[in-house]
Amino acid sequence: MKQAGPAPILSLRGVDKRYGAVVALRQVDLDIAPGELVAICGSNGAGKSSLVKIISGAEDLTSGTMTVRGEQARFSSPHDALEHGVATIYQDLALAPRLSIPANVFMGSELTRPFVLPFLRVLDKKRMAEEARRYLARLSVVVDDMSTQVERLSGGQRQAVAISRALRWQAEIIVMDEPTASLGVKESAVVLDLIRRLKEDGRTVVLVSHNMRDVAALASRVVILEGGRKRVDRPIDGLAADDLAHLIASGAG
Ligand SMILES: Nc1ncnc2c1ncn2[C@@H]1O[C@H](COP(=O)(O)OP(=O)(O)OP(=O)(O)O)[C@@H](O)[C@H]1O
Ligand SMILES: [Mg+2]
Repeated sequence: MKQAGPAPILSLRGVDKRYGAVVALRQVDLDIAPGELVAICGSNGAGKSSLVKIISGAEDLTSGTMTVRGEQARFSSPHDALEHGVATIYQDLALAPRLSIPANVFMGSELTRPFVLPFLRVLDKKRMAEEARRYLARLSVVVDDMSTQVERLSGGQRQAVAISRALRWQAEIIVMDEPTASLGVKESAVVLDLIRRLKEDGRTVVLVSHNMRDVAALASRVVILEGGRKRVDRPIDGLAADDLAHLIASGAG
């Protein structure tokens, strides 16, 4: 066991995940260092989403352990994970489509201000709008009207709102499952740029992707799952998209 570099921010040990008779993960060990961008790859049904759902609190592991910053962690919900600094950006995002941008960014952590009486507080909409605008600006996304309902934004802008929410919670670990899967070329480019900024910002990113070009361009490390087992775990070290595709295909069948 070599233990160079910083202590892992996230560790899984011997993680199994079963859904009834279906075994989705078997004995998965994974260490992620702070600031790493780790891509989780593999064929359909390999267990990628199951893995990130455990990290993000959407699913409980069947056996094994998870630690975050060296402490045992077992999140009861994605919100619980968020309170522990782990945010998840799903393809379908879990935003409230009818609500404004600030309402989404500050959902569950609204800003308030005193109102008339010292013990009365009301929502501080102005400050939430200003701060939401500032989060978006950090991601180089500009939306003129912050009161726009999130459902009226483009896919890339919605991703930026979801990431702003993660920034608001000061999430150190950001988990993304196929963030560009249903986006067009232009929107995908926006999202890839957002991911790059998170990395520059020193966040730890766990990215599930089928797009080997994205993985080659962004990730520092690639983990390949197959039939619920971890088969490959290595630095990207100049691997190109084709090399990654071969690496995934070489174990299958
Ligand atoms: N809620 C569930 N109930 C039963 N089986 C499930 C459930 N979720 C996933 N599975 C099964 O667990 C296995 C792993 O699924 P998972 O969604 O983790 O794969 P994946 O690698 O994300 O696949 P994809 O690339 O298609 O998204 C599959 O056999 C899948 O059918
Ligand atoms: Mg999946």
